[in-house]
Amino acid sequence: MAMDILHVVGARPNFMKAAPVMRALARRDTVRQTFVHTGQHYDSNMSEVFFEELGLPEPDANLGVGSGSHARQTAEIMTRFEPVVMARKPDLVLVYGDVNSTIAAALVCTKLLVPVGHVEAGLRSRDRTMPEEINRVLTDQIADLLFTPSADGDENLLREGVAREKIHLVGNVMIDTLVWLLPKASEQYESRRSTFNFPQYGLVTLHRPSNVDDLATLKKLMSALRDISSQLPLIFPVHPRTCERLQALGLAMRDSQVHLVDPLCYLDFLALQSHASFVITDSGGIQEETTYLDVPCLTLRENTERPITVTMGTNIVIGQDMERLRAEVGRILNGERKEGQVPPLWDGKAGERIAEVVVSWGCLA
Ligand code: UD1
Repeated sequence: MAMDILHVVGARPNFMKAAPVMRALARRDTVRQTFVHTGQHYDSNMSEVFFEELGLPEPDANLGVGSGSHARQTAEIMTRFEPVVMARKPDLVLVYGDVNSTIAAALVCTKLLVPVGHVEAGLRSRDRTMPEEINRVLTDQIADLLFTPSADGDENLLREGVAREKIHLVGNVMIDTLVWLLPKASEQYESRRSTFNFPQYGLVTLHRPSNVDDLATLKKLMSALRDISSQLPLIFPVHPRTCERLQALGLAMRDSQVHLVDPLCYLDFLALQSHASFVITDSGGIQEETTYLDVPCLTLRENTERPITVTMGTNIVIGQDMERLRAEVGRILNGERKEGQVPPLWDGKAGERIAEVVVSWGCLA
């Protein structure tokens, strides 16, 4: 009998994590897959554009939840997802990453006694002011299968009392997508070079509430970026949340070498990342991608749930210390950059390892 697996995605970073798992499971003829998009991200350039590039199928259901406060968004996802699970009765639901869609879907399933697998389990920033940290801790407590990207994830889960037999160290699925699409991204970059015609540049992304919601903080960060851009142009694809805040501040940065552009598709962003002199970011996934690509990463956060990118990779956690940011950029431009290595199991095969575990688990269940 076929095993029914239902995947839930909602926000931009989920899409590149689900794609390799779905592809690996599609190669198993004992598996039937359903794909649900909660609609947490709904702008075409935050969602739709990724589906085609990543080879994701049209969702079987789009719950169309959209934006809202954390309580409203999470509750809305739960309310709309529950009947889908009740109607489809999957054998396993796979949730991804740490966004509100992840915890909302996991909670629905656990109350309906439907097993849940969490892809990208065990990451911890130990900063409970981050909504994502709450989502991670809670999802991991109720999941039945926990797929970790690195050994620190296993250690965190064991410390929190998760049973060892539920934990599977499979590697990093985000890197699967990167490995798969890097050749295509590089090819496309050559033909689109004229769009971003800088021989050298830094790449910037900022969207965390801690950096962009408070206008004084955002102003301080933008002023540092303005200074840095006098040494090297900066390309800054702007998340909708950040865009709203920059508009409130009246900051279009036209009088600087900080080039604000709309959010980019996966291939363009990957190509820009791989050719960048450095990346300044507060994203989780980008800390990992730069480590794989061996591009210096300066993280504007006080902590990271991905410490392996610091201990092994090219990442430096800067916080909001703009003097430090300027100094680290100066060092990179002087050729004194931090060297890094690719962590174990970040090899493009994590999706395949997840599929193996899922199928064996299905046989035993
Ligand atoms: C969410 C995730 C975050 C992830 C990020 C990636 C949570 C708690 N946060 O943050 O972990 O790093 O996605 O992008 O789940 N908006 C649009 N169009 C969209 C989506 C959002 O305009 O398609 C705007 C809305 O004003 C919305 C705001 O962005 O209120 C924030 O969106 P939301 O989904 O709440 O969280 P993100 O900041 O995107």
